Amino acid sequence: MKEQLKALRGTKDLLPKEARLWTILEEKARAVFNHFGYSEVRTPVMEESALFVRSLGQGTDIVEKQMFMFLDRGERSITLRPEATASVVRAYLENGLENEMGFAKLFYIGPMFRAERPQAGRMRQFHQIGVEAIGSYSPYLDAEVIALLASLLDSFDIRNYEIKINSLGCAKDKEALANGLRQALGNHIKDLCDDCKVRYEKNILRVLDCKNETCRNEMKKIFKGTKEYLCAECLSHFETVKKALDGLKVNYNVEPYLVRGLDYYTKTTFEVVHKKLGAQDAIGAGGRYDNLISELGGQPKGACGFAIGMERSIMALQEVPELDGGLKIYIATMGDEAYKLGFSLAMALRGQGISAEVDFEGKSLKAQMRTADRLGAKYVAIIGDNEIKDHSITLRNMATKEQTAVPERSFASEMERKLLK
Ligand code: HAM
Repeated sequence: MKEQLKALRGTKDLLPKEARLWTILEEKARAVFNHFGYSEVRTPVMEESALFVRSLGQGTDIVEKQMFMFLDRGERSITLRPEATASVVRAYLENGLENEMGFAKLFYIGPMFRAERPQAGRMRQFHQIGVEAIGSYSPYLDAEVIALLASLLDSFDIRNYEIKINSLGCAKDKEALANGLRQALGNHIKDLCDDCKVRYEKNILRVLDCKNETCRNEMKKIFKGTKEYLCAECLSHFETVKKALDGLKVNYNVEPYLVRGLDYYTKTTFEVVHKKLGAQDAIGAGGRYDNLISELGGQPKGACGFAIGMERSIMALQEVPELDGGLKIYIATMGDEAYKLGFSLAMALRGQGISAEVDFEGKSLKAQMRTADRLGAKYVAIIGDNEIKDHSITLRNMATKEQTAVPERSFASEMERKLLK
């Protein structure tokens, strides 16, 4: 036998049971997005590398270490998208949605790729459900986007999550924050972890959300949070966001050290964490990115969005719902004549909108009954020599185990009555 090949490290097959759960969650998400007025966009999984370098920032972990980047046959640098915000903004600008829609509420569902070291809740191909609302500076938009995130998690039946919010301020405030941090940390670099020493040089704001205990303690001693660097306008924006969230009864905690790993954020940033998740505790995250639209060649416009990870959302579910395959009738047959009848009966039932399945492996009746059970069939139609002779079909209700003989000619209408009313 030849050696079998395996899926790549950090990637995963979604087998039928899990795929059903994903479909259910995706349908819930679509319903919530619909209520909030979001329309779907599907952008390519590959983009020119420059899109992400320009959007996420040269010194970020994603751009520096995590992009699946390659040269295509024409020597162009291509990247498998590590996130979708940059792609959605590109699509918005490239396709003239700016003129067509102006303010646009867009959502997406799909795979993202990051070359990270795989661990629980961290994959190289993972999946996000996200939204981008482009074309408004209003703080009420930030509040609505956060409320939408909460509604989405509620609809999944994820409980006990915590929403952390913070404000980084505008580009000027962020610069002041970076300078302030540089000064404050100047004499303490030696006390920080090796990663933070590099961050100090390359992307100083990232020092703020280092998970290392020593760095955190050090930070708390010398730095009171991002708030003291906010200008009056950004302070007032943040106050309005918080008040609007209070008004919407969305629970949140202000986390003064929350910065995010992507350079495009300005003003409001947020993250949702859940205790069930362990080290990689963020189910989702997002924020406002008021400079990205112009950075990518559009007219200056405010925007705000978030993405949740599907894999992590599933880890945080309160209960995984019982999922059957939705099969209504399994047709179990014995003998050639019976099989021919069962085979065409299955097709006829499907035509009526009733899911039906029949054996393809030449199994014994007992084995067919086991399969019916495994597939979660509501009924089994049993056809053997006696049934052929009597022109009737034995119908077994799998829940009650009750069996009745149904005349063959009225079988279809009987099933319609039982299953489609
Ligand atoms: P992010 O924080 O990089 O933000 O990712 C959002 C979510 O994607 C994370 O909270 C996590 O659930 C999931 N995620 C990220 N990396 C992985 C991974 N390697 N394995 C499994 N799950 C992962 C963004 O991507 C932004 N584009 C969000 C956004 C939208 N901001 C504004 N609009």
